[in-house]
Formats: sequence, structure tokens, C-alpha cells
Amino acid sequence: PPLDSLVGLPDFQWVGRQHMNTSAYTYYRNGAAGEWSYRNNLEVFARYRLRPRVLRDITNLEATIPTTILGYNFSAPFFISPCARGGYANPDGELGLVKGAAESNILYMPSLYSSKSIEEIYAARPNNSEQVLFQQVYLDGDMNDTQNLFRQIETLGAKAIVMTVDSPGDGIRHRAARYSVGSANSELSLLTWDLYHQLSNMTSLPIIPKGIQTVEDAREAVTQGVKAIFLSNHGGRQVDTSPSSLEVALEIYNEDPEIFKQIEVYADGGVRYGTDVLKLLALGVKAVGLGRPFMYANIYGAEGVARAAEMLKYEVLNDAANLGVPDLKKIGPQYVNWKSADVW
Ligand code: FNR
Repeated sequence: PPLDSLVGLPDFQWVGRQHMNTSAYTYYRNGAAGEWSYRNNLEVFARYRLRPRVLRDITNLEATIPTTILGYNFSAPFFISPCARGGYANPDGELGLVKGAAESNILYMPSLYSSKSIEEIYAARPNNSEQVLFQQVYLDGDMNDTQNLFRQIETLGAKAIVMTVDSPGDGIRHRAARYSVGSANSELSLLTWDLYHQLSNMTSLPIIPKGIQTVEDAREAVTQGVKAIFLSNHGGRQVDTSPSSLEVALEIYNEDPEIFKQIEVYADGGVRYGTDVLKLLALGVKAVGLGRPFMYANIYGAEGVARAAEMLKYEVLNDAANLGVPDLKKIGPQYVNWKSADVW
């Protein structure tokens, strides 16, 4: 369908279902095991109702949508999460993602397991490497390989390393296994805070742990001196019945809200609408990631990715206006009824 006939982010998944072959679509769509976390990531946002305030002065709201992530300027408080195998949606692979991110000035975190090499992705930046990218990595524990990888990432000009810590084992992905896609039976990988420090000493770039799922680990990260953490259950693809990042953010807010002031907190999983973004920001999350919606949008290449970003910006702005938020930087938990509402 023509790009301008799509009205919101879920439409891109529908296009993916029509356009991609079944095994490629299944790889993107898949969650672990019974897919409880996959569904909960989407449904959790509906359990918390908004508390819209009226007759508020929102004349300055639009100017408060752009934000900084680790000090870098972006047009919106959301970004493209790292996802492997962009080539399943588009023969140009991740080139559409990096160019679309540039066009709409949002952050992109290329996956180490991209279809294109990371050299090709960084070289495709349209604006002469001014575009800020954070590089995602999986580490196998071999320190020589890691040192080489970090040097390569620094040379390419990434501004941070996003280290995925939620995947020491394989995700149990039945849906994908039925279509023989996925990475079955890899070795368990070891990750400790000790290793984190050794790795930090090997690079000048900040290393952001991605996949924090409890207040204890968030607190530990602060103690260990990390600059930012990334709440995520990997889009519900790793361990089924792991919590959504909204639930983790709520746990942090209830038990140790200072964490949101001490470091930057990012979060992803199931974000599809402007109101989803607002609920995470309301708890103190600095920026919100989206994986699948941008992966499907990349069927249309850079144009689709940029269009998806503009759709979400439009929703964030108008939802915040209807919520009576004068300044998006000051949105707080009072805009949401945090008593879980199980039924509508
Ligand atoms: C992922 N994700 C992921 N995460 C990561 O750290 N490295 C990776 O290579 C991948 N690869 C990957 C592939 C695909 C197809 C998906 C859908 C996801 C997880 C990703 O970064 C992010 O956490 C989730 O996608 C967020 O959930 P939503 O937005 O897809 O619901």
C-alpha cells in the first residue's frame, strides 16, 4: 500500500505480514515461548489510564518535544532500538534505518547482528558522520575480539556502546523455530559486573547495559557508576514472563525513584502509540525505544522509517496537548492513574 495511506505504527506490522515472506515476518514478530511477555508489553499500556488536565497553557509544548540523550540533541524522546537482520524487510537492510533516522533526527542504535556490516551502516550516514549513533554489541567473553570490536566502533564514530545483557542464553522461540529461523543452541555467555569494568577500561565510550529488568539491577548499575541504563525484555523474545519495561520503570519509581535523577534511563518494548511514550516519560524515563515498528517501516526504506518517526512525533505532541502537559520535560507520574485497571 502507498506509504501515505498508513495512519499509525501498527499499520507497518500489517504491511510486514502482507509483504514479507512468512519466515522473515515470523522472525520479526516472534516472542519467546508462550509469548506472554510479547503480549504484555503491548497490553500493559492499556492497564494504566491517563489523568488529563484541562484548560492548561500548552502554547510552548511543541518546543519541549526535542530532547538530549547522553547530551546529544534529537528531535524526539524516542529512538530506534537495535534489531538484527534488517535485510529481511528490505534488500538495503539497515541503510533505510540509518538514513531515516538522520532525516527525522532521531537516535538509531545499529545491532551488531545487522544484515549490512556496521562499516556500511556508518558510511551511509547522509550528513558526513555528524549523525549520532550508539552501537549495540553482544559479547562472547573473548577479550581480544572485544578489544578489536571496541576499536572498530570507536573508529566508526559511535558515541556509546549499548551492551545487551539480557541474553546469556538463547530465547526459547517456538514460533520462529517452526519456520527454522533463529539462533538455536548457542553457548551460554558469561557476564558479570567485574567484566563490565574490564570492558569499560577498554574504551573511552560509555557502555550502556541493555536489558535491566529489576530495581536491584538498576540500583547496582548506579553503584557501579554507569551513565545510563536501558530497561528492556528484548521485545519479549528472551525469557517469557519477564516484565515489560513500564512495569520495571514503575518498580523503580516506587522503590528508588532517585535513580531516574542519578542516571539516564531508557526503555523499550511494545511502544506503538504516543500515549505509550508519555506513560514511560511520566515515570522519569529519558527516552523510549521502538524495535519492530521501525523494522517493518523499513520495508519502505528511509522514507518509511522517517514517516513512522513523524507519525509518532505527531501523536506524542497531540496526546501531550490533550493531556494538558505544558512542558514535556516536566511530565510527571501525576498524569497517570498507577492503580492498575485490569478491565476496561
Ligand atoms: C531485537 N532486539 C534486539 N536487541 C538487541 O539488543 N540486539 C539485537 O540484535 C536485537 N535483535 C532484534 C531483532 C528483532 C527482529 C527484534 C524484534 C528485536 C530487541 C530490540 O532491541 C528491542 O528491545 C525490542 O524490539 C523492543 O520491543 P518492540 O518495540 O519490538 O516491541
